[in-house]
Amino acid sequence: MKLQLDYVKSSKHLLVKIAALASLLMSVSACGEPSLVPNIVQGERKAAICGQCHGKNGISIIPIYPNLAGQKQAYMELQLQAFRSGQRINAAMSPHAKRLSDQDIVDLSAFYANMDPSGKKVPNSSK
Ligand code: HEC
Repeated sequence: MKLQLDYVKSSKHLLVKIAALASLLMSVSACGEPSLVPNIVQGERKAAICGQCHGKNGISIIPIYPNLAGQKQAYMELQLQAFRSGQRINAAMSPHAKRLSDQDIVDLSAFYANMDPSGKKVPNSSK
């Protein structure tokens, strides 16, 4: 009985240790990859130059330039990262992506993701 109790005690102790270690690991990995909070207002400000090609309302008037209004946030972040790293290359687009910080990419993607995909609603400050 005494032996069993000791076992339970020690295993309970071990569980506490495991739980503490798990939460420590989780907090370490959270530090390693901080998730950035998107700021749509900043995104709109940063998008002034993008609008020259992709349209102020996110709808491009040039056939080989893509629309961005209503684009998916995660997809857009991945494409901007790919242009920035050189994994995706385009003469018109790549130079603009090279200048973007991680925060810029998140903000710009949030701005376009929240834009009306019909292109009918133009954001206030872009009118
Ligand atoms: C000089 C014109 C030009 C400017 C300025 C420009 N882009 Fe682009 N962008 C393009 C072109 C052209 C493509 C299509 C590239 C291709 O064919 O691979 C593109 C592609 C993209 C894509 C990929 C879309 C998709 O469907 O895969 C995203 C996202 C994007 N641009 C975002 C931006 C953002 C954000 C800015 C401002 C920081 C910006 N662009 C500025 C011309 C431009």
